[in-house]
Amino acid sequence: MTPQQQALGIIRGEHQTLSAVIDALKHVADDMALRKLTPDYKLLWSIIYYIEEFPETLHQPKEDMVLFPRIRRRSKDIDDTLDDLSRQHADSRPHLDNLKTVLGRMEADIPGALQEFAAKVSTYAAIHYKHMSQEESVVLPKACEVLTPQDWEGIAASFAENNDPMLDKAATNSEWFRQFFRRIVTLVPEPWGVGARR
Ligand SMILES: [Fe+2]
Ligand SMILES: [Fe+2]
Repeated sequence: MTPQQQALGIIRGEHQTLSAVIDALKHVADDMALRKLTPDYKLLWSIIYYIEEFPETLHQPKEDMVLFPRIRRRSKDIDDTLDDLSRQHADSRPHLDNLKTVLGRMEADIPGALQEFAAKVSTYAAIHYKHMSQEESVVLPKACEVLTPQDWEGIAASFAENNDPMLDKAATNSEWFRQFFRRIVTLVPEPWGVGARR
């Protein structure tokens, strides 16, 4: 595998994992709003934790600190898009704070909170999908066009550091997040995960 394939594989793989978790949240939230599913707060808080911490700890630093600056060095063509995407990285926390507020209302059985949560999850998911699709349809192709083999070597080496399971700084390495992802999958009810429906 070339360093380029390795680096692209890591970014796309992280997009898929994040999307799978956000998809699961969307399905669960919709069914809860329709009263087809009893809220499982351990699952819901776990998902919120994952989609808040995983991008900030592992994914966005790869983009903001490694990939985007190297593209900027080689080309000015997509500077505006890169500015937008970095701004969206910075803006994602307030959206999640909003979700947490409504999740708290759900736990308190406030009328309408289930429906409000489902609507907010749907908005959050749409923003996330648009962000990722811009990265995959604009940024990655531009990276393939302008980056040199040496650039890709540097990028792959720096991504691999992130993936080192020996870097055991509690909740800050990719192996820890992989295990946390598996825990979420065991809690998400069928048919989206392998958990029991309640
Ligand atoms: Fe991003
Ligand atoms: Fe991304």
